[in-house]
Amino acid sequence: MAKIFVDGTEYEVDEKKNLIDALKDKGVEIPHFCYHSKLSVVGMCRICLIEIEGVPKFQAACNTPIKDGMKINAFGEKIVKAREGVMEFLLINHPLDCPVCDKAGECRLQNYSFSLGHETTRYKEEKRNIPQEKIGTNLLINHNRCILCYRCVRFDREVVGVNDLEMLARGNDTIIAYTPPETSGEKSTYLNHNYQGALADICPVGALLNENTLFQSRVWWYESHESHCHGCSTLCKVTTNVKNNALYRYMPAQNPHADGFFICDYGRFSGKNFSENRLLHYAEAGAKTTSKQVLPALADKIASARSILVIGGGTESCDDVDQIAASINEWRAAGKQVKWDFRSSRNAFSKGNDHYDFLLSGDLRPNAKYLRDKGATELKDFDALQSEIRNADLVVVIGELSAPYAYHMNATSENHAHVAGLEIANAVEDTELFGSLESAAAWIKTALFTTHHDSATLRAALAIPMLAFPERAGRFVDKTGATKTTNSVLKPVQGLESPGQILVRLKTAARPTAGASA
Ligand code: SF4
Ligand code: SF4
Ligand code: FES
Repeated sequence: MAKIFVDGTEYEVDEKKNLIDALKDKGVEIPHFCYHSKLSVVGMCRICLIEIEGVPKFQAACNTPIKDGMKINAFGEKIVKAREGVMEFLLINHPLDCPVCDKAGECRLQNYSFSLGHETTRYKEEKRNIPQEKIGTNLLINHNRCILCYRCVRFDREVVGVNDLEMLARGNDTIIAYTPPETSGEKSTYLNHNYQGALADICPVGALLNENTLFQSRVWWYESHESHCHGCSTLCKVTTNVKNNALYRYMPAQNPHADGFFICDYGRFSGKNFSENRLLHYAEAGAKTTSKQVLPALADKIASARSILVIGGGTESCDDVDQIAASINEWRAAGKQVKWDFRSSRNAFSKGNDHYDFLLSGDLRPNAKYLRDKGATELKDFDALQSEIRNADLVVVIGELSAPYAYHMNATSENHAHVAGLEIANAVEDTELFGSLESAAAWIKTALFTTHHDSATLRAALAIPMLAFPERAGRFVDKTGATKTTNSVLKPVQGLESPGQILVRLKTAARPTAGASA
């Protein structure tokens, strides 16, 4: 630790940290645009200027090593005036766009222009006027708002590991441009990685914007709660952005000690358009009916089955998984043969990597580890699955859509607002897997617990609607074995239950007598 003095006040700070972070830990916020604690230091924006006793010129705080005993002028008159000059310079080309800018409310430039900006401008020349451009499958750039802080270029190179953004031209003409790398002789039209939301996040102004949330809400209208993303077994810590009982996006909860600063797009938008196409009724052979018909029918099927195959459960909370395991144990105790399989990734039938990228886990089921610990078998072999289905008298699929937005986007074209991560979802849902079997014989003996309406709900013998992850709180065990809790962020659909609750109710389900109403 080192003792330093800021405007006469003594602070004991961690000298291994960057000065901006070390002072932030003590509640002292030095303004900064280009500095980000997960990126290399470039010292490009100069808003973090400070005066150091014994050093003749102002220095960039982000590029100043901490020394024991150093005395800093961080908020005195001279240094504030210098920062005001930097702001005036940065605002030369920046348009007065806050009323129509998606970043308003979470924009550093907007915040600092309140504290350090001028009410009027001395600039009389013509501002630059470059048209907005689409540079990513879900990313727009408004060049006029860009303050050339270089965060986006560093993020892509240093965090994502791609070299696809660059600063082009000079002086007043300088812009950030997409410079596609060549893959197998082809160049992609748009940036298409799984971190376009993170690019819009780290851009300190409204230059980089996500297309699929563009103009959909002012950020101050969102209700936000802490939770964990349910998209994969990394279970990143997030805050939610909910408006009118719709989950627009997750934002990364900045917890450098646990999950870092970033989340992937697959997770970020996993709850978007969640309410579309929800399955809100029970169905028997595709026809709409009630729980009073379907639950006793399922109880009968369980009672008469000698062998049962359960598929899925990896998206469910520990409490629900415990209930699935308890039901399986009861069925086994009653002399039935029960097999419990689940699939956690698109690589289920081939050798895949543990991770798709630096964050998104190969386990797209958030509770995959807990399921493995409970004795569920991970599907590895498509032929073996087909033979298990053939041999079972009853197949129970617990298939919550983990990313309905991705699933329903049907993203196939580069022009569409999808990213590589979202394509993953199209190939991983259990209902889709099951659908690929194309076997009428399999569907006739299938009870499907699910959250959304699709062709599978029409084909299954019984379809049972259930609550989904944003509608209920739950515990999950991440890929490292840590227990994490998700919160209920949407008002649950009245009358729907979790699969665990439904299985409990099943024990007392009985066929209604003739004439009973729903
Ligand atoms: S687009 Fe945003 S992050 Fe990139 S250089 Fe411009 S202001 Fe910085
Ligand atoms: S890495 Fe996994 S948990 Fe993290 S945001 Fe992406 S999908 Fe969600
Ligand atoms: S934050 Fe230090 S120069 Fe930009």
